[in-house]
Amino acid sequence: MKLNKLLLSSLCVALPMLAMSSNAFAQRVTLKLAHNLEQSHVVHQALAQMAKEVKEKSNGELNIRIYPSGQMGGPRETIELIQNDALDMTKASASEMESFVKEFSVFSSPYLFDNDEHFKKVLFGEVGKEIADKTKSSGFDILASYVAGTRSFYTKKPINSPADMKGLKIRVVSTPTTNKLIELLGGSPAPIPFGEVYTALQQGVIDGAENNIPSYNQTRHVEVAKFYIEDQHTSVPDYLIISSKTWAKLDDNQRKILQEAATNSEALQQKLWDAEVEKSRAEAEKVGATFITVDKTPFREALKPLYDDFAKDPNLATLIEKIKTVSSK
Ligand code: GCU
Repeated sequence: MKLNKLLLSSLCVALPMLAMSSNAFAQRVTLKLAHNLEQSHVVHQALAQMAKEVKEKSNGELNIRIYPSGQMGGPRETIELIQNDALDMTKASASEMESFVKEFSVFSSPYLFDNDEHFKKVLFGEVGKEIADKTKSSGFDILASYVAGTRSFYTKKPINSPADMKGLKIRVVSTPTTNKLIELLGGSPAPIPFGEVYTALQQGVIDGAENNIPSYNQTRHVEVAKFYIEDQHTSVPDYLIISSKTWAKLDDNQRKILQEAATNSEALQQKLWDAEVEKSRAEAEKVGATFITVDKTPFREALKPLYDDFAKDPNLATLIEKIKTVSSK
């Protein structure tokens, strides 16, 4: 009897302690995610929502700390940090991925997509998956893809046709494809990091740049390059990537929670994007931007030789063909 009582009382102490210790020792993981967009950008908002969802669903066991606004450098640097095990996750555009995995260059092909629907069918369909799967040998995996509208030129002086671009220095996310794109239009490409474009425009180091309307507005480039030329030469998506080593270290439940939250962030980002384009356009106009509608035909014609380059590489040529056959209806 006495022994039973003793046993019971010691169990009463031991059981809660056991429960406590399993909580206390549960593996808490914090993943670092760095990117170069502003906190007002819809991709950042989608990532913040993902971090919140991951924390809630894992009961605080899995956390994501976000470092926005290029605090850890641009995508090239953050991808290298991932490859050196110093960072877990980052966001990079297809152009920025091109130097690691050449298949991403197809997104820099001018006028490849018939419209937004076509682009989304490719990005979120089989072809998009085929391209995304190619990163594995570079040490990272793709968790989510984000739409980023169309990229157009913006300059200090009005442009109405490719002829007006002759001799202009235009900032690009520098890759063989984007550099050639500018050269074909008679300009010279300038490989300036995203975060330094404002000063370069302000000081006249460059005459223009190219981007989608939200980035044109949020970076305040609009203040120093008033003309936005709606030539819409490319549609370049953004990607959320994670170090393959980090992914392998997570347990099955953590991986499931993270993948689900990343997929949900894709849907949220798409939902927010179109409204953001309209809002950014209105804000840019308010501070003096002029949006110029141009005939795209001469731009399309001038850029055709880029396709000859793609045709020389059988892998890229096949991918381009596959993209063209994805129905936009
Ligand atoms: C867009 C894109 C970014 C990219 C940037 C750039 O804003 O969303 O991922 O870094 O363009 O031109 O550098």
